[in-house]
Amino acid sequence: MMQSALRPAAPEEASTLRTLNAFAVDLISIPNVDDLFWYVARNVVGQLKFIDCVIYQANPEQTMLTQVAALGEKNPYGRTILNPLQIPFGHGITGQVAQTREAVVIEDLLRDKNYIADTQPARSEICVPLIFDDRIVGVIDSEHPEPGAFGAAELEVLITVAAMTSAKLELLAESERSHRRYTDLVQSHAQLTQETNNRKSLEAELANARKLEAIGRLTGGFAHSFNNLLTVISGNLDLAEEEQSEAVLKELFGDAKDAASRGAKLIKDMLAFSQRMHLVPERLSLNDLVARTRDRNGHRLSNEINLELAQDLWDVSVDPIAAEVALGNLILNARDAMPSGGIIRITTDNVTYGIGDTKAPSQEIAPGRYVRLRVIDEGTGIASHVLPRIYDPFYTTKPIGEGTGLGLSMVMGFMQQSKGTVVAQTENPHGTTFELYFPATVDETGLVGN
Ligand SMILES: Nc1ncnc2c1ncn2[C@@H]1O[C@H](COP(=O)(O)OP(=O)(O)O)[C@@H](O)[C@H]1O
Ligand SMILES: [Mg+2]
Repeated sequence: MMQSALRPAAPEEASTLRTLNAFAVDLISIPNVDDLFWYVARNVVGQLKFIDCVIYQANPEQTMLTQVAALGEKNPYGRTILNPLQIPFGHGITGQVAQTREAVVIEDLLRDKNYIADTQPARSEICVPLIFDDRIVGVIDSEHPEPGAFGAAELEVLITVAAMTSAKLELLAESERSHRRYTDLVQSHAQLTQETNNRKSLEAELANARKLEAIGRLTGGFAHSFNNLLTVISGNLDLAEEEQSEAVLKELFGDAKDAASRGAKLIKDMLAFSQRMHLVPERLSLNDLVARTRDRNGHRLSNEINLELAQDLWDVSVDPIAAEVALGNLILNARDAMPSGGIIRITTDNVTYGIGDTKAPSQEIAPGRYVRLRVIDEGTGIASHVLPRIYDPFYTTKPIGEGTGLGLSMVMGFMQQSKGTVVAQTENPHGTTFELYFPATVDETGLVGN
């Protein structure tokens, strides 16, 4: 476009080429639109023997041009323009170029009706549009004091500069867009992190509130239950002071002793819940323990208790008294869940869970060998809103005086202390299964014992 490949360039043409080549290289590192306009005014047009150059930028509405960079007699040092000239689209030669998007060369301004005379009147003018993305971005304009100063060669050079400038504008707009996209992304990421953190702290707050509520219920419930027992004891002692009848005295003391031992159990349950129960583990077979517990509790229940005990059950190391209390609590709960009677099944078996085993009923169960003890009832089941709270101390759905809400918290405390766990499976209203998982005792030989 500027020279044919075969013809050696004339000295002037060669310097023009060098200027355009340098422009092409420098363009790469020009960081923004403002710098681009000034670079074009100072280093390109200024070097190309155009003695004057003004660049105008169009507004987004495409109605007005504003001077953004200038070099020449009007701005000999190429300084920032403090009071930029504004030209509406359609007005004067630059306004015409902006509107028609056609480059023009004016041979003699004195004969052009569009010329708006400036403080330094010129005789010839060249003006090319900067077009990008089908919009007028601005115009590059140059004037000369002599008529006929610009010809086809100057037009070609300036159109080339305008095309290169437009291409760079496109790149700058794209990088501006991707920068915006990037900052948008960073912003939404930050927002997401913030939301996640908020949710986490909300959850922590909630957990804390629940804990506080549980502690409140624990102390309140304990005080209430204990007070009831003390009332029974001191009331009976008062009555005993006045009592003559041997038989009545025996009854009063019996009731007081009963209340005292219930108080002791309450404290035991509390300690087990808070994991401070003093446990003395013994190696034993849960089958024996189940049979013993049934014999001890069975006569107090109207329910039938069926045992399905696995042969060759692995041994476990547990505190036998605490284990019996825990099993007793589950049996009593099963009974309470079946007000009009029903069968309670107690089963034992050996289970093994591998790493990542999907059969494991709880994530709390580490891979390994366990003895599973199940208490199965055909009762009411546990409603889904009740289920998350059943291990909370003093949580009970039973009428006042019937439930203490300590049974399952004792079971949970005991199982955790025994390195096992408890899992409740329930189907409202088809009954509930409580499963206790005890780690199997491993021999010195590495084998599980039975
Ligand atoms: N087998 C069961 N079937 C239905 N609900 C049960 C069963 N076991 C426990 N629950 C529920 O869990 C609650 C807490 O049980 P627990 O801690 O033993 O206290 P309590 O028996 O004194 O109410 C019970 O009030 C009941 O709502
Ligand atoms: Mg209970």
